[in-house]
Amino acid sequence: MERLILDCDPGHDDAIAILMAGLDEKLELLGITTVAGNSYLENTTMNALKVVEMAGLDVDVYAGCARPLLRDQIVAPEIHGSTGLEGAKLPTPKRQAEEKHAVDFIAEMVKAYPGEINLVATGPLTNVALFIIRYPDLVEKLKRIVMMAGGIAFGNVTPVAEFNVYADPEAANVVLRSSVEKVMAPLDVTHQAIMAAEEIERLRKTGSHILQTLADLLDFFRSTYLDLFDIDGAVLHDPCAVMYLIDPTIFECEDLYVEVELDGNLTYGQTVADIWKTMKMKPNVRVLKRIDRKAFFDRLFEDLEKLAVRK
Ligand code: RIB
Ligand code: CA
Repeated sequence: MERLILDCDPGHDDAIAILMAGLDEKLELLGITTVAGNSYLENTTMNALKVVEMAGLDVDVYAGCARPLLRDQIVAPEIHGSTGLEGAKLPTPKRQAEEKHAVDFIAEMVKAYPGEINLVATGPLTNVALFIIRYPDLVEKLKRIVMMAGGIAFGNVTPVAEFNVYADPEAANVVLRSSVEKVMAPLDVTHQAIMAAEEIERLRKTGSHILQTLADLLDFFRSTYLDLFDIDGAVLHDPCAVMYLIDPTIFECEDLYVEVELDGNLTYGQTVADIWKTMKMKPNVRVLKRIDRKAFFDRLFEDLEKLAVRK
């Protein structure tokens, strides 16, 4: 059993990551923390509450940082819509976000379960960086950080920078320099987890209202990727981070030295991986490189189809 906190910016792919984290029997989801990213904090927090309500998950949501550490804020309505989770009507949540700040909740859990907490980050790394800055003595008590972050061969917001890192590169720098075990799912691997139209249709065909709602969300996400990237599918970036905890054997990985560019004009926010070990630096992160696509989607459908028997 892997215990985790999911720090996210729902976001369509974050929504799938929330469901996997809450439904897979290998995982114990202790809480969800939200951060500004795909949309503003009030939207990402509301979206997390709506996904929890829709799936009937018993998990609390804690709001975190409303803006990046240093740079100006960016959001992604062109991908996720103005609310951050457009494409379907989700139920009004009964529960509200907790009073406690996300970073303080993470600290509380790490103190309660030293060495056992996986902090899975699927949005900008602002909350994670602030946890490291605010609670330096607790960093070594984290089991690991697993993040959907970065791109080695390409970016998606600029030619070389991926959104979660580009939205807060200084936070990504704090995280990459931290001493805790880190796992990174860059675009190079997440673009191998593209959910095709017929796979989305499989959810719709279950006849389950929840899965039809999910299919509507994924079709919206697919449509924006088709418009912007000419990719006809829902790219399941964030689920890759959660799937690593469920079954790391689904991935081929390599331990690499990775830094983030903070000064470049063209390259600001680029994650630079020293593939050829030219910098002679000790690897600081396990990078996911290849995916067993069949095993990934078999486990994803096994988890999502558990919702078919709910209301
Ligand atoms: O670049 C992809 C990442 O940015 C994903 O986490 C997606 O949800 C957006 O936040
Ligand atoms: Ca995300």
